[in-house]
Amino acid sequence: MTAERIQAFVLSDEEKADIDAEMSHYEDPGAASVEALMAVQQRRGWVSDEALHAVAAYSGIPAAQLEGVATFYNLVFRQPVGRHVIFVCDSVSCWLCGYDDLVQSLCAKLDIDFGQTTADGRFTLLPSVCLGNCDHAPALMIDDDHHGPVQADELDRVLEGYS
Ligand code: FES
Repeated sequence: MTAERIQAFVLSDEEKADIDAEMSHYEDPGAASVEALMAVQQRRGWVSDEALHAVAAYSGIPAAQLEGVATFYNLVFRQPVGRHVIFVCDSVSCWLCGYDDLVQSLCAKLDIDFGQTTADGRFTLLPSVCLGNCDHAPALMIDDDHHGPVQADELDRVLEGYS
């Protein structure tokens, strides 16, 4: 990452205000790492290297710490994503209740694998740890919406709500 590329990225006033507000809740600025990154992601769709370094410079949170948080926390997108992100629960209750069929159908229907985005930019497909919706397994989440149980033959109905 060159200094020029880092400097080329400018946080908006709204992003700075959100970061300030989040950091004001904590004594240690690092405790607001996720929220600081999400302040950018909410407006730009994802967090580029340049954006991460801009957040680091503004907040004083070391870039390496932000990188670590972004790597661990799968809701921080470090690559561009589609208009909608589908998280498929990849944990035990869902494995037992139709995960394999659901993933196979989703991948076939969207013509992508995990980590990819459809050609029309509509959906990105990602695996997730337990979505906390185990009693509705197999479960998935699209953007902030929980769905479940979702059987393969219900996918068209579920997906049509996201254009
Ligand atoms: S195991 Fe899938 S939602 Fe919990």
